[in-house]
Order: sequence, then C-alpha cells, then structure tokens
Amino acid sequence: MQSSLMPFCRWLQDTSWATAIRTSLYAYPFIQLIHFSGLSLWLGTIAVADLRLLGVGSRRQTAGQVRDELFAWNWIGFCTVVLGGFLLFSAQATAYVVNPAFRVKLGMLVPAALVWHVFVQWKTRGWGQMSETPAIAKLAGLIELLLWISVVTAAVEIPSY
Ligand code: HEM
Repeated sequence: MQSSLMPFCRWLQDTSWATAIRTSLYAYPFIQLIHFSGLSLWLGTIAVADLRLLGVGSRRQTAGQVRDELFAWNWIGFCTVVLGGFLLFSAQATAYVVNPAFRVKLGMLVPAALVWHVFVQWKTRGWGQMSETPAIAKLAGLIELLLWISVVTAAVEIPSY
C-alpha cells in the first residue's frame, strides 16, 4: 500500500501550496495552530459528552441534551482537524506516509475511533434521556475516551521516527 501511495504523496508534496508550507518560516506553525485548535474543539466536546455518559460532573443536563448542544461544535472541530492535518501532511507527505506512528494513527486508530464516536453519538440519544445513564453507555463512553487517548499517543510519537 505504501508504494502505491508514494506517487500521490510525491505529487502532493510538490504542489505549490505544499511547497509554500514547507519553505515558509511561519506557515507550518500556523497550520499546526489550526490542527491543534480543531483538536481542542473536537477532543474537548468528546470528553465532555463521554464524561457525562460516565456520570462525571454536573447532572443538570442529561447526556442527550449535552450531546445535542455540542453536536455542531464537535463536527466543526473535526473539519478543522482534518483541514489542518491534511495541510501538515501535504508539506512532507513522502516522509509521513512511511512513518510508523503516522500510519498507525491515520490507518488504524483514527478510523476505529471515528466509527466508535459516530456510534456513541447516535446511541446517546437513547441512552441519555434520564439523568442516570445505563452501564452500557458508561462502558461505551470509557472505550471512546481510551480510543482518542491512543490516537493522541500515536500522534505525539510521529516526530520520534
Ligand atoms: C481526528 C483525530 C486526530 C487527532 C486526535 C490528532 C492528533 C494530533 C496531535 C496530538 C498531533 C501533535 C503531535 C506532536 O507534534 O507532538 C498531531 C500532529 C499531526 N497530525 Fe494529527 N490528529 C488527528 C487527525 C489528523 C488527520 C486526519 C491528519 C491528516 C490528514 C493528521 C495529520 C497530522 C500531521 C501531519 C501532524 C504533524 C506531525 C509532526 O509533528 O510532524 N492528523 N495530530
């Protein structure tokens, strides 16, 4: 798979915008800022929703209400993460595509966590109607938190390879 992606990565890395990001002094840190701002929104809203499923914190709102109120911010955060992540990737695509931590993060952990997130967000409508959530909802919230922690752990390992 690595070799079939390489021509695309070479092309991507040679585009004018990717070259500009790589060679400019300020572009790469600025795009990191975009990626990290999106991450704050995405992971922050996920943490609040999952902790409410686990029964941690204020119970003034049900888990379903928390989910509904954070829904738009959650997905705005995700779009920002993907935009920033894609631009960071494009700057050095041929290096990232062979980086083991990047491959684990993007090829395995992000898809798994994303599918689980969509499932939990969908099920929270039903689970989150009462103040107390069922045990299955608590387990689902805990699994989701652990999945995103593993994504972040893989991501911070990227520069070590
Ligand atoms: C949605 C889940 C995601 C999470 C939780 C996440 C998390 C992170 C974190 C914590 C870092 C900082 C690593 C460090 O420098 O210590 C990072 C960097 C990075 N991310 Fe993401 N990311 C996500 C999605 C993406 C996507 C979708 C892409 C690409 C399309 C991407 C591409 C990158 C790249 C290229 C870096 C720079 C790595 C480096 O320091 O060289 N990320 N990400």
